[in-house]
Amino acid sequence: MAADVAAGRRPAVVVAAVGTTGTTAMDPVGPIVDVAREFGAWVHVDAAMAGAAMLLPEMRHLFDGVEGADSLGWNPHKWMGTILDCSLLYVRDVEHLIACMSTTPAYLGSAADADVVQYKDWGIPLGRRFRALKLWFHLRLEGAEAIRARLRRDLENARRFAAQVEAEPGWRVLAPVQLQTVCVRHEPEGLAGEALDEHTLLWANAVNAGGRAFVSPSTLDGRWMVRVSIGAEPTERADVEALWRLLRESVSGADPADPADLADPLTR
Ligand SMILES: Cc1ncc(COP(=O)(O)O)c(C=O)c1O
Repeated sequence: MAADVAAGRRPAVVVAAVGTTGTTAMDPVGPIVDVAREFGAWVHVDAAMAGAAMLLPEMRHLFDGVEGADSLGWNPHKWMGTILDCSLLYVRDVEHLIACMSTTPAYLGSAADADVVQYKDWGIPLGRRFRALKLWFHLRLEGAEAIRARLRRDLENARRFAAQVEAEPGWRVLAPVQLQTVCVRHEPEGLAGEALDEHTLLWANAVNAGGRAFVSPSTLDGRWMVRVSIGAEPTERADVEALWRLLRESVSGADPADPADLADPLTR
């Protein structure tokens, strides 16, 4: 930003990622807010996946400094399990939204204008669905404590799965396990570069073709790896244990589509 200012540009916005899509890496929000303030830049916090973790007091440290941000977005339709789509945007000062998106033609006026919040002035579309209603129902039906228990279950399952992978020769956990996503790679001795990529894609695609589990291959530092995202509501420890067996079977050449190859397949 200093270089931009020196070059006559004006820094506009800094986006801090609290839980990146690929690896759930965390930007330090507090220090970013401090620097952005010096330059008068807006700070947006993208917590699309990690936002659910804010329900857990023991995870709030990941958001230290968030009170200094100007806006924050997160998606209850991800890990929290609210029905798609439900993306929330929090803003410090709603006047910014109203200043750029308010529309007030005469035919939209109503006698209640002075008494109600006109959400039509907070976003681009004029007509839209009542997404907040399903979030309200989700919170009322499941309850915050039950949701917290489920998130804690997933965190514990992810940590346990990562520890199992770490302990297995030839396997590696590639990024810190901050939430419920575990990035793994099977690295047989003597395999590197493109040959390793080919191996990774082969076993990941075989797992997915088998239909019992779905992992998401992705790249990290230019090489293929596999993301295991543990966060679906019915996923219990036994499912994660079965997945770990499935992954080991798949790299040993077993056919993940053949139930005979699996002692205890994912059954749900
Ligand atoms: C870090 C991150 N930000 C943003 C998004 C997209 O959010 P939205 O669907 O609300 O645009 C995703 C994934 O969908 C994500 O993982």
